Amino acid sequence: MELVEIQKKLESVEALPTLQTIAMEVNRMLQDYETPIEELTALLKNDQSMVPRILKLVNSAFFGFRSNVGNISHAIVLLGYNTVRNAIVSLSVIDSMNIRKKYEGFDVVEFWRHSAAVAVTSKYLADNFQIDNREDAFTAGLLHDMGKLIQIQYFGKSFEKLWFYLRDEGLPYHEAEKKVALIDHCLIGAVLARKWRLPERLVDAIRRHHSSKSILLNDELGCIVFLANAIVNMYMPLPVSYLRSEDKRYVLKSLPPAMWEAFRTSKNWFFEIKDEIEAACRFFINGDQS
Ligand SMILES: [Fe+2]
Ligand SMILES: [Fe+2]
Repeated sequence: MELVEIQKKLESVEALPTLQTIAMEVNRMLQDYETPIEELTALLKNDQSMVPRILKLVNSAFFGFRSNVGNISHAIVLLGYNTVRNAIVSLSVIDSMNIRKKYEGFDVVEFWRHSAAVAVTSKYLADNFQIDNREDAFTAGLLHDMGKLIQIQYFGKSFEKLWFYLRDEGLPYHEAEKKVALIDHCLIGAVLARKWRLPERLVDAIRRHHSSKSILLNDELGCIVFLANAIVNMYMPLPVSYLRSEDKRYVLKSLPPAMWEAFRTSKNWFFEIKDEIEAACRFFINGDQS
């Protein structure tokens, strides 16, 4: 199914999660590079509960810079518009996707644990490789699998079919999807990200996180999320085996040589970011945000 068709199908679903108005408004403003800082800070002042959470996130080691930025305008000057926007989007997504909802054996807490781990790992790799727009890596990692939550909540029948197929066939999630699901989680996530007006590079990274297309197109952000997902699946596999997504080794081998090397040597460095992963989980899952 093509992206446009999926978009139509998704649009026909009522009440798809929407980002809070504030996040949508920030995304809109940031499409216009002329937006003055004052306009953005004035907007955020309308939502006082959001400001301390944004500051806590941008000041955290796992997301930002272990800094001590005290207000939003300072954060924008110091960290850039994109970083602040990504913090707002990340918070807003967690708020809009009811994270405690459960579906039989699908544990939403484990889902977000995986997502937070991919986010921290993506950021670590993006910083290491100094890719362009590296401030997008955390958010891309956090959102990469969000299509799965949409499958559960809005495409229940199709998901149920997939669920039983997964359990019976023992295929990796994204391969089973190709056989039985109406729409795969990568595409759903991409459509949603576009609906939320996230930059196209984020849309692409979500869309291709199980495909070798990012490698073929030299899309570094896409490669980073693909790689981070593979590494997290290896060291922090989901407890339910048939919900795991394992990427083929030969695809990983076609990553740029430095990234393949990072995969090959990941057991030497992954433990170094474990504390940051735990801090991100506490922040996003346990609501440790005050
Ligand atoms: Fe995935
Ligand atoms: Fe994943």
